Amino acid sequence: MSFIVAIDGPSGSGKGTVTPALAEKFNLMYLDTGATYRCVTLKLLKEKIAFDDIPAVQKALDEIKIEFKKIPKPKDCKDEHYEPKRVFLDGEDVTKEIREADVAKNVSPVSHIPEVRKAMVSLQRKMSEGKDVILEGRDIGTNVFPNADVKIYLDATFDERVRRRIKQNKEKGIEMSDEEVRKNMETRDYNDAHSDVGPLKKAEDAIYVDTTGKSIEKNISNIAKIIKDAKKKHNRIEESYVMTPETTCKKVRRKLTKWFLAGLYHIFYRIRRSNMQVLNNRDEGYIITANHVNFIDAAAIILLHHRPIRFIAKADLNRIWILHHWSKMFNIIPVKRDTGDIGTVKLVLQGLKNKDVIGIFPEGTRKGMEKGKDIKNGAVYMAYKGKVKIVPVGIAGSFKLFTRVYVNYGEPIDVAKFKTDDPNWLDVATEEVMKQVVKLSDVTYYKNYKKAQREKKKQEKQK
Ligand code: DC
Repeated sequence: MSFIVAIDGPSGSGKGTVTPALAEKFNLMYLDTGATYRCVTLKLLKEKIAFDDIPAVQKALDEIKIEFKKIPKPKDCKDEHYEPKRVFLDGEDVTKEIREADVAKNVSPVSHIPEVRKAMVSLQRKMSEGKDVILEGRDIGTNVFPNADVKIYLDATFDERVRRRIKQNKEKGIEMSDEEVRKNMETRDYNDAHSDVGPLKKAEDAIYVDTTGKSIEKNISNIAKIIKDAKKKHNRIEESYVMTPETTCKKVRRKLTKWFLAGLYHIFYRIRRSNMQVLNNRDEGYIITANHVNFIDAAAIILLHHRPIRFIAKADLNRIWILHHWSKMFNIIPVKRDTGDIGTVKLVLQGLKNKDVIGIFPEGTRKGMEKGKDIKNGAVYMAYKGKVKIVPVGIAGSFKLFTRVYVNYGEPIDVAKFKTDDPNWLDVATEEVMKQVVKLSDVTYYKNYKKAQREKKKQEKQK
């Protein structure tokens, strides 16, 4: 799983200085997305393609080859501003050319051409595929990687940004008057903010970092702290896909924790359960499908059943240390939402082979049925593949402290009986299973169940 850091911000906010340093520090691939737009601009200028000649622009985009290579300064190179991170356009080194005035003046309108935007976003995603990467740009956190592990929005006052650009140009040997830099920055700021496609704006979950008046080292160390923390959380998610062995020590710790947490559960809720014995046959694995009403409802199943029950839970929970710790202890199976996570399917099928009981919330989210969300058919698919029955479970209760919580276990369902040639059979079977879940999540079900049990006992006594 890639680790992605998105650094966005206006021209001169410090992205170009801070990002390569952070790439080095955390061993991340560095992607300067601005350079990709500059390459397109240079190509259009060189080939004298008008920016509004969309078929010609598209043809250029189809043919363009942009590469980033790290080449140490050659011994005979006399350029004192030599930059080891080289940019190649169609095989030619254009590292310096893409920073010159002609490109700087034209890159903004070019980057606003929808076709250019689409091609570059797709190129940037492709270049990052499967890699741990840090990208700098304008729309990384909002558009290119909206699920990035870290999102930073760098900023600085206008005057400071102009000063930095003038200094940078001098260092790189780029000739541009101070007034030209100021005008250029003004226009770019306006265009970046008012673009219809990929406008520069802070992503809601991005961390705002103002670099004005702070040293480069200070800015780097501030962001490094954020990345370090995110990397730890990211590593915990990675780790959660590797199950720890069932050692005696782990089993004892799990028993003690289960006993302690179940005690707390009983104090805070009046638990009522029915038909738990359906899971008693330890020679069989099962999939439990339950309705999801509260974030601690899975605990009412895991903690309060004598048989070990594993649940599938969103991988992001592992970002929180204590949940990661319990997740490992209770062999929780992580899943990345809406990604058709193959790792999860493999873990479930392996678990079913070992005759485990695995819990799934087909609603995917809390009160999904009430919210009209699509019910996921993964539980039926995996039960069918793993050749196990589904035990529907209904949970009822408000989960307000000291109130009753009901957990009703239904009779096992053999999903194979729903298998037909109809490509929608998984959905049909899921609907049938969920009908049972809904029936079981009614409080009166529990009362009727108990009444029937009492009647049965009475009759047996009379016999
Ligand atoms: O970061 P830079 O100055 O090299 O960027 C050059 C231009 O590319 C700038 O005008 C904004 C545009 N750009 C963009 O629209 N989206 C990005 N992700 C990166 C740059």
